[in-house]
Amino acid sequence: MSDKIQIFDTTLRDGEQVPGCGLNKKEKIIITEALEDLGVDVIEAGFPISSPGDFESVQAIAATVKNATVCGLSRAVQKDIECAAEALKKAKRPRIHTGLGTSDQHVMTKLKITREEVLERAKACVSYAKKFVEDVEFYAEDAGRTDNEFLAKVIQVAVNAGATVVNIPDTTGYCLPEEYGQKIKYLVENVNGIDRVTISTHCHNDLGLSTANSIAGIQNGARQIECTINGVGERAGNTSLEEVVMILRKHNWLNFDTNINTKQLYPISRLVSETMNMPVQANKAIVGSNAFAHSSGIHQDGVIKNRDNYEIIDPAEVGVDKSSIILTARSGRAALNFRLGQIGVVLSKDELEETYQRFLSMADDINVVNDPDLKELVGVYAHINL
Ligand code: KIV
Ligand code: ZN
Repeated sequence: MSDKIQIFDTTLRDGEQVPGCGLNKKEKIIITEALEDLGVDVIEAGFPISSPGDFESVQAIAATVKNATVCGLSRAVQKDIECAAEALKKAKRPRIHTGLGTSDQHVMTKLKITREEVLERAKACVSYAKKFVEDVEFYAEDAGRTDNEFLAKVIQVAVNAGATVVNIPDTTGYCLPEEYGQKIKYLVENVNGIDRVTISTHCHNDLGLSTANSIAGIQNGARQIECTINGVGERAGNTSLEEVVMILRKHNWLNFDTNINTKQLYPISRLVSETMNMPVQANKAIVGSNAFAHSSGIHQDGVIKNRDNYEIIDPAEVGVDKSSIILTARSGRAALNFRLGQIGVVLSKDELEETYQRFLSMADDINVVNDPDLKELVGVYAHINL
C-alpha cells in the first residue's frame, strides 16, 4: 500500500512573486480551476495582508474551490493572521500558513531578535491562528540553513501549540539532498508528537536541487511537497510540481502516490506559462517543448523501433499528443522515411537515398526541416501526389 503525498501548490503565492508575472483576480481563478482539475490537495492562494488586490483574490479563490484546502500566508504577526482568516472565511477547508525565520542569518540580521523570542513568537502565531481555523501550518523560514538542534526546538513549540503541518523550507535553495533528508529525519527522531502532524518540504532551486531535495525530504518522513507549476518562483524558482509528481510515478517502488491527474500536467503548464507570460525552457523536464522530441539519428532510429529505447514517460501520460521526430542535419534515413510516412509518402530505396542527400543539404541550410519542406523535397517525383 502506497503512502499518499499531499501536493501543495503555491503557484499563486510563491510562484506569483516573480517580477513581471503578476496575475489579476480573473487569471487567478482560471488557474485555480485548472489546479482543482489537476487534483492538487492544497492551493496556496496568496498572502492576503500584502495588498488589497491579493486579499480579494484569496477571498475569491476561497469561494471558488470545491475540494482542495485553500491556504493563506501570513507572517507571525497578529494582524496578518486576522487578515488571512478573514480572506479565507468562505473556504470549505481553510488553512492559515504562518511562521518566521529560524536561521541565525534571519534571526540576527533580519528579525533582529533572540532565539528565545523566536520560540515565543512561534508559539504565539500558531496559538493565535488556531483561534480562527483548525488547520494551521507553521513554517520555519530558512530552515535549510538553521542548525538542526534549534530547528527541532522551534518545531516542537509549533507542534505543542497545535500546528497540523510543519513546513521546513530550504528558502535559499542551499541544502544538498542528503543534508535536507537528514534534517527531516532529525526532526522525525527528535520532536515529540511529530508523528501526529504532516511534515512539508518547501525547496527553492538556487542550486538546481529543489526537486532532489523534495524527494529526499519525503524519503525521510515528509508527506507534503510544496511546489509550483513549471517551477515558477522568485530567483531560480520553486520545486517543479510536474517533476516531483512524475518522479513518484516512475519510481513506484518508492511506494508513494499522489492524487494528481498527470494528463493535465502539460495543459496546465501551457496555461500558467501563457497567463504569466513566462516561457518554459525548451529542455525543461516533462513539459518543455523538447521533452519528447528526438533529433539525433541514433535516437530517432531507436525510438522508431521502440519508443521505450529513449523515453521513460509515455507523452500521453502527461497530456502531450505524441513524441516528435525532429528532422535536422543530424537525422538519419530512418527518421526521414518515418516522417515521410506520416505525410503519406512512400519512396523506393533508391528514391529515399537520393532524397536523403538533398534533405541533408536543405537541413544544413535551414536547420529544421518541416512538412512543407519535405513536400518540396519529394515534389520532384511524378508518382507523388500530395
Ligand atoms: O521560501 C520560504 O521560506 C517561503 C515561506 C514563506 C513558506 O516561501
Ligand atoms: Zn518559498
